[in-house]
Amino acid sequence: MQTLNIIGAGKLGKTLGRLWRQRQVFEIGAICNRTAESTRDAAAFIGAGDAAESIAAMPDADCWLIATGNGQIAEIAEALGRRRGDCGRAVVFHCSGALGSAILEPCRPAAAASAHPVHSFADPALSLETLPGSSVALEGDSRAVEWLHSAFTALDCVPLTIAPENKSLYHAGSVFACNYLTALMDLSLRTFDAAGIDREQALRLLQPIVLQTARNNLQLGPEKALTGPIARGDGTTVSAQLEALQAADPQLAQSYRQLGQACVELARRGGLGEEASERLTELLSEPTK
Ligand SMILES: NC(=O)c1ccc[n+]([C@@H]2O[C@H](COP(=O)([O-])OP(=O)(O)OC[C@H]3O[C@@H](n4cnc5c(N)ncnc54)[C@H](OP(=O)(O)O)[C@@H]3O)[C@@H](O)[C@H]2O)c1
Repeated sequence: MQTLNIIGAGKLGKTLGRLWRQRQVFEIGAICNRTAESTRDAAAFIGAGDAAESIAAMPDADCWLIATGNGQIAEIAEALGRRRGDCGRAVVFHCSGALGSAILEPCRPAAAASAHPVHSFADPALSLETLPGSSVALEGDSRAVEWLHSAFTALDCVPLTIAPENKSLYHAGSVFACNYLTALMDLSLRTFDAAGIDREQALRLLQPIVLQTARNNLQLGPEKALTGPIARGDGTTVSAQLEALQAADPQLAQSYRQLGQACVELARRGGLGEEASERLTELLSEPTK
């Protein structure tokens, strides 16, 4: 079996380490975290792995995972590059969505790649159950990408390859759907609060409609999933809502206008007529008095 060393076995590193050990994809070699206590905890969670005090003290391995925070990857790559061991046949990879494999240049002649799981590892014990089915974006040297394709397929993940120059755009795509959705939920809760609906009631109210909307988007696509006043070209309702938002909190009105513009563009693609689209665009452009 191939060996895997892990530098930075935190939330993501220890989840992958344990799953790869359980599925007998890799034998876990050495683990090196920032602190000895955290390294020991990670080895216990993974159920294997020798605690190493430093990168220099780690034995050679077939594959190296750098799963520190993004800010440490460059310095770890430098440290790996300074090792005396023969890295020539090794595969080195990190899991950042924001960074490409070029940051691993100091590890040459090892084959380098980045592998970004589209998954939230907030709770490693839960991720052991929920990671299967998640997509993993791979980018880098072909030998490393082929390896990682097999390793993630063995975890029932769905690999996809991405060109290095598109990595930032790819990551921004996830940010829109995940992080911005959270910001939208916050705007919605703040607006309900202004309407006198408390948080608990608002969350109960939102649960079925948010889940239904997500399902509609995934099954029908956004053009068909869009409903509401903008999709209907109903300028009177949009105008009344803008006025109410402006009175309650001008910041909410500003967000409504900006997101409304994106909705008009979507509604136009979904079949809303030119005249209605232009009327709504104009309405949403004017700051409310
Ligand atoms: N979390 C997610 O949902 C998620 C999703 C996709 C991708 N990622 C990517 O996965 C990577 C890891 O994220 P994470 O959330 O797992 O981070 P994390 O839980 O904060 O874990 C980072 C680990 O790196 C260790 N570390 C920090 N500096 C180090 C150093 N100089 N030498 C050795 N170890 C060091 C830390 O050790 P100590 O415990 O001793 O401090 C910790 O165990 C990042 O590139 C991130 O972008 C994360």
